[in-house]
Amino acid sequence: MVEHSAAEKSDAPRPPRAGDCESDDITQLILDDHEHFRRAFARLDDLQAEESLPAADLSEVWDPLADLLDVHAVAEEEIFYPQLLRKGADARDETLDAIGDHNDIRDAVHDAARRPVGSQDWWEAVGRARVANDEHMAEEEREGLADFRQHATLGLRESLGRRFRQFMAEHHDARDLDTSDKDPERYVDSRVPPDQGPTSTTTPRADNSLGIGSLKGR
Ligand SMILES: [Fe+2]
Ligand SMILES: [Fe+2]
Repeated sequence: MVEHSAAEKSDAPRPPRAGDCESDDITQLILDDHEHFRRAFARLDDLQAEESLPAADLSEVWDPLADLLDVHAVAEEEIFYPQLLRKGADARDETLDAIGDHNDIRDAVHDAARRPVGSQDWWEAVGRARVANDEHMAEEEREGLADFRQHATLGLRESLGRRFRQFMAEHHDARDLDTSDKDPERYVDSRVPPDQGPTSTTTPRADNSLGIGSLKGR
């Protein structure tokens, strides 16, 4: 007889897998990941409401969610945003915002990894990851994804989607990826097509360590 954990019995959300979705359109695949994030955070709400809360049950939901948040951001940075910079109408500002948001999400996810699962500090870090991710997903869906749908052909979106799907399948956890923060200006300037650059008016940073965060409010 197969033993199931409490999380499995309650239909804990599982990370998306290659072949889950019919569409190859990268904008659709990104939306699918976003929906998964929302459901996984909602599952943590359910667990938080339970009287007895084993750390293993929290880890069963959080660990794959944390991995997917990391891998999803790197996949977008490797596959989606370089093409948005080529095709989008307002791509530079959209990409600067997105990389800064990814840094905020990464900072909170990695902070949670340093806290005892289920502790107050852990919940605080998980909460920060959720707020940063919720805000970023809404903006990304309204701006970058919408811009790309309006200006990139379906053929390009589908070919990028196949690469995105393969990347997610090959890096289902984030251990083999560089998930450190990226300097948004340096990222954009290194990927903008030569005929569209140079775009930066700032002095390049000497490092790309944690804490770069978002450009919002600067
Ligand atoms: Fe995303
Ligand atoms: Fe993103």
